[in-house]
Amino acid sequence: MTNSFVFPCLLLLLLPLVAAQLRVGFYNSTCPRAELIVRKVVQERFRKNRTITAALLRMHFHDCFVRGCDASVLIDSTKTTPSEKNAVPNQTVREFNLIDKAKKKLEAACPGVVSCADIITLATRDSVALAGGPNYSVPTGRRDGLISDPNLVNVPGPTFSVSQALQSFTAVGLTLFDMVTLLGAHTVGVTHCDFFRNRLSNFEGTGKPDPTMDPALVSKLFSLCGTQSRPLKHDPTTFLDRTTPFIVDNQYYNDILAGRGIMQIDQELALDASTASFVSGFANDSLGFQLSFANALVKMGSIEVLVGKAGEIRKNCRVFNSKRKM
Ligand code: HEM
Repeated sequence: MTNSFVFPCLLLLLLPLVAAQLRVGFYNSTCPRAELIVRKVVQERFRKNRTITAALLRMHFHDCFVRGCDASVLIDSTKTTPSEKNAVPNQTVREFNLIDKAKKKLEAACPGVVSCADIITLATRDSVALAGGPNYSVPTGRRDGLISDPNLVNVPGPTFSVSQALQSFTAVGLTLFDMVTLLGAHTVGVTHCDFFRNRLSNFEGTGKPDPTMDPALVSKLFSLCGTQSRPLKHDPTTFLDRTTPFIVDNQYYNDILAGRGIMQIDQELALDASTASFVSGFANDSLGFQLSFANALVKMGSIEVLVGKAGEIRKNCRVFNSKRKM
């Protein structure tokens, strides 16, 4: 076989692989206004409600950590078939209507072209920029998944140690540094008392609060939360970053260095020998955090994505195109 034959053959073999990658501007020719349409919906909603940045960051995280960024978190459960929405950690994931609104506009402009997984990714990117965070380019070309099973939802929990949490991150190809950076998302949004009440009194059976929490914060949170656990919809909430709760900045790292982490995992990040230096690095370098946060979000958004002909482009983000696929 001559080289002139081998080379074109190799090229033909490699082409589908190359074409099957995510890329910035994936919709430039198939739906040129796609990114603009998403941005307008996000801007409009943000003007009325600044908490959407937190909601979308968490939605993106919970989507990507369960079978990759495939919009499986958006599927509604039915009477007969539960979806990821039924899993406990997803019960407080919100802003599904925002995604529906963007999808409706995109379907009107370019039917069957833009995936719900890309809408989550783009909307998160836009909401982060609106909240003062980095403004970054994000590759697109994801396709929507065909499975949404509550039993597969195993996102890390708030009382995880750093090493336990790290196992969840390495399982999806992220590093310790990515984890410290992505937890910086707790610079916005809220948590229910249920996820940190254990720290406020009788912590680990000691009869006292968690000694690593600033005592002034313990007493404020104790009066908010009390000792009685309640259903999440009646459980009070507090900001994760009580200093600048609506701004994507490096204040979270300063908070946790001062013993003002709300959840155990937040506080441990500042205290664990493996992560403490990253935390103080970000606390002292606002720009460094912004750059790393953008990179880490792009990396998180690339976890196990479906591309090429895999999956589907859902018409309605809440239901699979074909009924049999749940
Ligand atoms: C070890 C990893 C993590 C744990 C254990 C964790 C846990 C939690 C918990 C328990 C809440 C409170 C939910 C509620 O009360 O409704 C929360 C909120 C939040 N999480 Fe995380 N999280 C982790 C990583 C992440 C990552 C990687 C992101 C995004 C990149 C993220 C973004 C958020 C945001 C923005 C909120 C506030 C949500 C809102 O206001 O609705 N978290 N997290």
